Amino acid sequence: MELEHVLKEKFGYDSFREGQKEVIESILNGQDTFALLPTGKGKSLCYQLPGYMMNGTVLIISPLLSLMQDQVEQLKKLGEKRVAALNSFLSKEEKRFVWQHISEFRFLFLSPEMLSSTIVREKIHELNLSLIVVDEAHCISQWGFDFRPEYLQIADAMPENRPPILALSATATKAMTEDISTYLKMNDMQTFRYSVDRANLHYEVVEVESFEKQQKIMEQIEQFEGPGIVYTQSRKKAEKYAEQLASKNIRCAFYHAGMEQEDRRFIQHQFLSGQLDWICATNAFGMGVHKENIRQIIHDYIPQNVASYMQEVGRAGRDGQAALCTIYVEATDWTRTLEVAMLDLPQQWQIDEFLRYTQSGMRPDLLVTEGKMSETTYRVLAYWMNHLLPEDVLMKVQQLAMTKKQQLSELVHILSGSCIREGLLRYFDEEKNVDIANCCSSCGLNRHEILKKHIKRNRSKESVEWRERIQRLLPMHSN
Ligand SMILES: Nc1ncnc2c1ncn2[C@@H]1O[C@H](COP(=O)(O)OP(=O)(O)OP(=O)(O)O)[C@@H](O)[C@H]1O
Ligand SMILES: [Mg+2]
Ligand SMILES: [Zn+2]
Repeated sequence: MELEHVLKEKFGYDSFREGQKEVIESILNGQDTFALLPTGKGKSLCYQLPGYMMNGTVLIISPLLSLMQDQVEQLKKLGEKRVAALNSFLSKEEKRFVWQHISEFRFLFLSPEMLSSTIVREKIHELNLSLIVVDEAHCISQWGFDFRPEYLQIADAMPENRPPILALSATATKAMTEDISTYLKMNDMQTFRYSVDRANLHYEVVEVESFEKQQKIMEQIEQFEGPGIVYTQSRKKAEKYAEQLASKNIRCAFYHAGMEQEDRRFIQHQFLSGQLDWICATNAFGMGVHKENIRQIIHDYIPQNVASYMQEVGRAGRDGQAALCTIYVEATDWTRTLEVAMLDLPQQWQIDEFLRYTQSGMRPDLLVTEGKMSETTYRVLAYWMNHLLPEDVLMKVQQLAMTKKQQLSELVHILSGSCIREGLLRYFDEEKNVDIANCCSSCGLNRHEILKKHIKRNRSKESVEWRERIQRLLPMHSN
């Protein structure tokens, strides 16, 4: 009864959604907990509510700046003042403020990279932590969701006498769940897994020729209303789509990690508050971000793995109404994605250089400054050189390459299978046991039925005008 009371009082909801109560009770019992709930179904509440029932600070480790911003804004909207995120989005003054008041926050968000700084760690150890949350915990899998080795070191950053850990994900397979438990050094982890299916998402694959892809995407956007997201692989492409859409008077903007932080913050806010209808983004935007009414997700490329795809389409239809998730595929797309996936893996000569620098007392991060490797490559290399013998690092890298290839082919296989939904569910060891109308393009799907309330008005107005004009011209109109 008491939990329901807090739910109503603090959040205004009448009842818990599937899984929330069980997860919350487990945390309040002091248990390390893992929860797999589908995208958009309220994982945040699983730590927000306990935050009000325990004394101290809830520390939330969160992978993307866009996600942290979103979560902070959501909590502020609920009237919470004691909430902050420590990240590079903050101005100097804001940062100083957070540092000065760090022990007073009820909710504190941190990136895993922040956590690897000694100063931050020491500060964290002084806090009275009530709960540690690892959001989007699938990033922990040793097979590197997106090369974030810092994710593997979270446990080392924790104080010895730590509170329970809650790991959250919508896209962790059973194998990933084991990784999560191992890397976070969970004690007797309680696992709660619920179906990852999102019945109101309709999956569509459209095969196109290279020359017509952009045109077809534009047509779709002109035909059906947003809000929506166009996901692209490169920053340049995101900008190009935004430019094209703007030329059609569609309220849109691009978003990627190469932009000024202030601009990113501004655009996300505009999109979430409904002043923009479309956002053209790389995967720097999205994971975890909550906007209720997204009706369309369009991919102009194949993501690197099932989890990324699920995360990106998972932005859609969070209000429970139907949404369309279309991926446009041309024949060369999957090799292109594979190339991009391989780009950041260290090569033998880079391993040799790394070794040469460390042995001669030079800082290996100079390799990034000197343009000899990307930052990501450096991160991967630094982590594995630290954890393995140099001669084993190459083998590790080869293993990673194989896994990446395997992960991509799993997604390609699902997208070209006999039912996309069934394929996605099977990937998470689930059966599809309900038939859904307009399930996916393999089962058969009609866009107009799915988005019937969102067919653009100017089009229908056009056709009304046209019909009227035709009628006026018809002879029977004269009487
Ligand atoms: N018990 C509830 N009743 C009604 N609405 C709820 C309830 N719990 C959560 N919600 C709503 O669900 C929305 C989405 O939740 P949230 O952002 O936590 O999803 P999520 O599971 O973390 O998704 P993702 O996997 O994409 O991160 C919240 O903003 C909130 O409005
Ligand atoms: Mg979330
Ligand atoms: Zn289907």
